[in-house]
Amino acid sequence: MTNESTALIIGASRGLGYGLAQRFLERGWFVIATERQGSTRADLRQLAAGQPRLSVETVDIDKEEELHALAAKLSGRQINLLMVNAGTAGDAALPFGERLLAVMRTNVIGAMAATRVLSPLVRAGGAVAVMSSELASISGNTDGGWEPYRSSKSALNQSLRSFAAESQHAPWSLTAVAPGWVRTDMGGPDAILDVETSTNGVADMLLGRLGKKGIAFLNYRGETLGW
Ligand SMILES: NC(=O)c1ccc[n+]([C@@H]2O[C@H](COP(=O)([O-])OP(=O)(O)OC[C@H]3O[C@@H](n4cnc5c(N)ncnc54)[C@H](OP(=O)(O)O)[C@@H]3O)[C@@H](O)[C@H]2O)c1
Repeated sequence: MTNESTALIIGASRGLGYGLAQRFLERGWFVIATERQGSTRADLRQLAAGQPRLSVETVDIDKEEELHALAAKLSGRQINLLMVNAGTAGDAALPFGERLLAVMRTNVIGAMAATRVLSPLVRAGGAVAVMSSELASISGNTDGGWEPYRSSKSALNQSLRSFAAESQHAPWSLTAVAPGWVRTDMGGPDAILDVETSTNGVADMLLGRLGKKGIAFLNYRGETLGW
């Protein structure tokens, strides 16, 4: 890939999405990064003010009409990597069933809508990726815990595999990404990785997915995880 390459990062107002925007800028890429309309986090816009290779768009992945509006706005752009990072752990104060529905809404329905609506923008030889989690692995679930969130990310991986089967002639690779346990608003202060370590690993792993085909479930170190 030349340094004309462009990454589209969905959900980059803070945390891992913001870190990924920084990592791709450091690697000489152009970056289109999104936040939600009315976001109170100014970090992304402040970064864009001093960085001509970064542009900021708005989208809420729970709102399909906003995804279609973004796709129309970006139509014709040369996008080499789509990273659907947006996700939620839900509100811990909610009863189990309501929290499960809330995380399914964003982490599965929203993330897959974003993938389906925006992946046609990705050029041949590019990569499409969705932020999954180590906790998505059904075969790796020996400890339990985090049941609503874990279930949503397992369902995301399952949907992604269906999408891969439907898109087997697509000219890009598809990746479910496990970023490690990272110190963000979601990961909390006790997480073992900082954002820079995780996103450096994820960015390099995704660069390795350019020019490939098919689906993989990979962590930030480029290791294959069990579905
Ligand atoms: N941190 C970890 O240890 C960890 C581990 C495994 C996987 N992950 C996954 O990595 C991704 C990023 O996590 P994080 O730790 O950076 O979380 P975070 O700090 O809570 O940030 C979440 C990001 O997603 C955005 N978002 C949430 N719902 C959205 C929606 N409906 N539409 C558009 N954007 C939305 C947020 O935007 P607002 O600012 O507008 O809310 C924010 O930019 C998530 O998919 C998460 O599940 C994280």
